[in-house]
Amino acid sequence: MTKHILLLHGPNLNLLGTREPDVYGNMTLDDVNQAVQKHVEPYDVTMRIQQSNHEGELVDMLHIARNWADGVVFNPGAYTHTSIALRDAIAAVGLPVIEVHLSNIHAREEFRHKSLLASQCLGQIGGFGWHSYILGVDALLRHWEVLGD
Ligand code: DQA
Repeated sequence: MTKHILLLHGPNLNLLGTREPDVYGNMTLDDVNQAVQKHVEPYDVTMRIQQSNHEGELVDMLHIARNWADGVVFNPGAYTHTSIALRDAIAAVGLPVIEVHLSNIHAREEFRHKSLLASQCLGQIGGFGWHSYILGVDALLRHWEVLGD
């Protein structure tokens, strides 16, 4: 059975490549999306990619995903640390969500150490640059047993 993945990017991630490249790397969001798309090609999955700088829009995207997606790889950006609305949306839709970060949020400023979303997610991956997204997708594939040990 084909699995459907939502790859969801939150605020400021549209600026990847130019935004603080020492922290987030030189790849643009398009580069990252293409690399993830290429990575899933061998598997029986489809992937839809969305980005928004707006909290409510991200909530809407999660709600809509409930009707078509089997799982979500989500970099919530700064909303990770602030958004009870996104936490509630993840809890409400009941989809497996992998929280992904380019940087290691636990090794940065103290205000980034706390994720309000992580407890509602299947797990959290961070610190591996754009590769965090690859690991996030693999976590979903393993969860579905599309990928074995
Ligand atoms: C981020 C980490 C967040 O703290 C930050 O606000 C971002 C990007 C990351 O991918 O490392 O926008 O989610």
